[in-house]
Amino acid sequence: MAMDEHQERLARSWQSNAEGWTRTVREGRIESRRLVTDTAIVAAAQALHPKRALDIGCGEGWLCRALEASGVEMVGVDACATLIASAQAMGAGQYHVCGYADLAGSGLGKFDLLLCNFALLDEHLQLPLQSWRDLLRPGGRLLIQTVHPYSTGEVYEDGWRLERFEGFGEGFPEAMPWYFRTLESWLALLADAGWTLEKQVEPLHPRTGKPASLLLQAV
Ligand SMILES: C[S@@+](CC[C@H](N)C(=O)[O-])C[C@H]1O[C@@H](n2cnc3c(N)ncnc32)[C@H](O)[C@@H]1O
Repeated sequence: MAMDEHQERLARSWQSNAEGWTRTVREGRIESRRLVTDTAIVAAAQALHPKRALDIGCGEGWLCRALEASGVEMVGVDACATLIASAQAMGAGQYHVCGYADLAGSGLGKFDLLLCNFALLDEHLQLPLQSWRDLLRPGGRLLIQTVHPYSTGEVYEDGWRLERFEGFGEGFPEAMPWYFRTLESWLALLADAGWTLEKQVEPLHPRTGKPASLLLQAV
C-alpha cells in the first residue's frame, strides 16, 4: 500500500533525526525513560520468559541489548536504515530494516514475544497488528508501551499531532507526525485486530505521580 503524506513525513523525520535520537537514548537524556519506562518494559518482557522476541520499531536497539543480556534471542526491526545501522554497530542482536506493514512476509520466523516500545506512531495499524499474529509461537504475547493518553495534555480525540522534540537538544531537524489515540481507541484497535487484552499497566512517574506510559499486554 502506498504511504500517505503523514506516513512519508513520519519516515523522513526518523531518517533526519536518527543521529540525535541515538545520542539521546544512549546518553539517557529522557527522564521518564531513565526513571520508569525502560524498566517497565524490560520487567514486563522478562516476566513472560520469552526465548525469542521481536522488537518492532527497535530504533538504535537498546531494548534488544537489554533483553539479550538476560538470555533472550532478540531480533530488532525498524523502518529507518540509519537507526538499524546504529543498532548493528553495538553488536548484540540481529537487526533488519523492515516497516511494520511488511513484517508478516519477512521470513524472520516465529517469536514468543512481540515488543513495541513507543514505536506505534501511525494511524493505520489494524492490518499490521492483524498480520503480526502469524509471527507468534503458541502462547506468544504482544507488549505495547505507548505514551499514556491521559498524560499528554492533548485534546482527547484521535488524530495526528506533531512532536517537535523540544528540550531534546540538537540533532532533531524535522518534527515528527504521530497519531494520538484515546484509551478507548487503543483497546478497540487491539480487539479489532484480533488480540485479547490480558493486562494493562500504568507505570507512575515518581516525581509527578502521573502515569509515565501505558503498557498493554495482549494474546
Ligand atoms: C520513539 S522511537 C522508539 C525506538 C525504540 N523502540 C526505543 O524504545 O528507543 C520510534 C521508532 O519507530 C520507528 N518506526 C516508525 N514507524 C515505523 C514503521 N512503519 N515501521 C517500522 N518502524 C517504524 C522509527 O523509525 C523509530 O525508530
